[in-house]
Order: sequence, then C-alpha cells, then structure tokens
Amino acid sequence: MSGPENTEHASAKAQAGAGGTADVETGHDYDGIREFDNPLPRWWLTTFYGTVIFAIGYWFYYHTAATGDSQMTTYQKEITAAQKEEDQKLQALEAQGKGVSEEQLLALSKDAAAVARGAAVFKQNCLACHGDRGQGVVGPNLTDRYFLHGAKAKDAYQVIGNGVLDKGMPAWRAILGAAKVQDVTAFVLELRGKNLPGKPAEGVAEDEAARAKP
Ligand code: HEC
Repeated sequence: MSGPENTEHASAKAQAGAGGTADVETGHDYDGIREFDNPLPRWWLTTFYGTVIFAIGYWFYYHTAATGDSQMTTYQKEITAAQKEEDQKLQALEAQGKGVSEEQLLALSKDAAAVARGAAVFKQNCLACHGDRGQGVVGPNLTDRYFLHGAKAKDAYQVIGNGVLDKGMPAWRAILGAAKVQDVTAFVLELRGKNLPGKPAEGVAEDEAARAKP
C-alpha cells in the first residue's frame, strides 16, 4: 500500500510524537511502509522489568530457598488439615457416644455393598498381616471367635481406627478415613465365625470377651 493516505497517516503519527519524544525513522521502507524506531512506552517497560524482578524473587522464594510451599505441598497440607478436622469431629462425636453405634456397625456387616467395599479395602491394606481371607499371618486370625481387643463390633471398629501401635497394628482412620474404616469393619465382622484354618486362636473366646468388656 502506498500513496497519499499512507503519507498522511505517517505524518499524523509524527506530529503526535512531537508532543513527547520525536519519532525516529529506521530508514527501512517496505513498499512505502516505513519503520519507526520508537522507544517502548514507559508503562510497558516498567511492567516488563517488574515481572522480571518478581520472577527472580519468586524463583528464590519458592525454589532456591524453598521457603514458600509449592502448590502440591499447599494442597497436601490442606487435605491433611481437612482430614484432621473431620477426624476430630468424628472423635468428638464418638466421645459423646454419638459416633457410629454398635447397631449401625452390625447392620453394615449385613449390607452386601458395604461388605464388598470393605473387602476391597481389606485386600489393599490388610492381607499382608491378616492373610488373604483373614486367616492370620503376623496379625491374628480374624475368622475365629477369639479376641484380643473385645468381641463387640465397636471394639473392632476402635482397634482398626486407632490401631495397636506397639503390637504392629497400624491406626487406619488417619490413613483411610472414617468411611472406609466402617466398611472394612463390616467386612471383618462378616469374617467372624468362618473359622478358617490359619493362625491359631489368640485372646479370649467370645463370651469371655463380652463379659470382660460389658
Ligand atoms: C502391619 C501388619 C498389620 C496390618 C497391615 C493390619 N493389621 Fe490388624 N493387627 C495386626 C496385629 C499385629 C494385631 C494384633 C494386635 C495385638 O496383639 O494387640 C492386629 C489386630 C487386629 C484386629 C483385632 C483382632 C482382635 O483379636 O481383637 C483387627 C480387627 C484388625 N487387626 C483388623 C485389621 C484391618 C481391618 C486391617 C486393614 C485395614 C489391618 N488389621 C491391617 C497387624 C496388622
């Protein structure tokens, strides 16, 4: 494109430029389109250098010194905090006797869907110590009616949730969350009385256990 229009446009720009800094031409002319060599606007440069300085600070804070948490760490901290909060609520409820009840747990052990979910949790987390069918390995046989920690559904729920840390039984509530602990408790309750051959019975028989822990 060339002609009077183009020239007019260029001179209009030159005039506008005259108010501040004068337009400088590079001397490049492409079919009548001429190139100016104007300085970048101050606001643009300020923003640009600002981002560079910010990036250096950001890099130092989050990467070199690693003072700041990464997005992943922040996320994990939030998740942990949320789980802890949920856990505390649950524990507070249980302390008031309003947590999951004996009846609810027994009902859950007859709920096929809950038992199936529990079986999956068991397969993933428990079989190494309790055997693939609960017959016991390092951990006790869960298919007999002898108990180390009580015969009630709530006893099983407590042991699974809180663990027996000095005996090598992990505390699962913090790992799995309350819902999965309920499901796996349902599965464990359902195993009882199957009397699969495995680890010899440990603890006390059911009636004794029930008597010991009314
Ligand atoms: C690292 C090994 C290990 C793993 C994994 C493990 N347990 Fe245990 N568990 C044990 C040991 C050991 C005991 C016995 C604790 C004791 O002697 O007081 C036990 C005890 C128990 C009891 C109490 C039994 C009783 O007689 O009172 C239950 C119920 C139980 N575990 C369920 C589970 C469930 C459900 C899981 C999976 C979510 C699980 N355990 C995973 C080792 C383990």
